[in-house]
Amino acid sequence: MNFEQAIRTRYSCRKFMAREVPQAVIEKILELAQHTASWNNVQPWRVLIASGAAARDFAAALTAHVRSGAVPKPDLAFPQEYHDIERERRKACGVQLYQALDIGRGEEERKRQQMLENYRLFDAPHVALITTPAYMGVYAALDCGLYVNSFMLAARSLGVDSIAQAAIAAYSDFVRPYFGISDERKLVCGISFGFGDATHPINQYRTGRAAISEVVTWYR
Ligand SMILES: Cc1cc2nc3c(=O)[nH]c(=O)nc-3n(C[C@H](O)[C@H](O)[C@H](O)COP(=O)(O)O)c2cc1C
Repeated sequence: MNFEQAIRTRYSCRKFMAREVPQAVIEKILELAQHTASWNNVQPWRVLIASGAAARDFAAALTAHVRSGAVPKPDLAFPQEYHDIERERRKACGVQLYQALDIGRGEEERKRQQMLENYRLFDAPHVALITTPAYMGVYAALDCGLYVNSFMLAARSLGVDSIAQAAIAAYSDFVRPYFGISDERKLVCGISFGFGDATHPINQYRTGRAAISEVVTWYR
């Protein structure tokens, strides 16, 4: 698969099959993602991967934590509001998801259950947690974002599906101690990965993108 095929066919997978990704394939994804550019080549990302029983135990503990009514405390501030076109796109993203599952407007409990699927890792057999050094600030977090994209595209190119999850970082104060990650590192996001269930309704739709005319300003 070339770059165009990988980036055009990657999508956020929200239902995985139980089958694990062979260790050699995971290592290949990691090796490819290591080629990500970073400012001064500092490569600030660190990656913790939980697989199999470790992933299932983590998902159960995190789900219980969220269900208990824990207050989100992300290490990196989440957006507090969305304006204009960003607001519209965010809304469209939610509409697509609920339509795929036939969840109606007022069905708040079904929406909540679907939101909780984030913490069940969408049944993925693996989750990667990406952290950045606390002292390095926004550009190191940006480097980690580039790494996340490389990881997902490398995975796609090797037939592995994935989803980046800020939802996991919402509970950084639970996730870091759970894995013994020092508070000198900030949790950027999780990436659940594995083989997608291609028959599940939630994996059927694809999100749109703005035309380049909407995002690019040309000067000549
Ligand atoms: C940094 C980051 C965090 C995300 N967090 C979540 C999340 O917590 N839960 C979720 O369902 N999707 C999450 N997504 C997936 C986005 O909703 C998705 O990328 C977007 O809607 C575009 O769809 P696509 O990935 O299928 O092309 C995240 C994506 C990124 C890049």
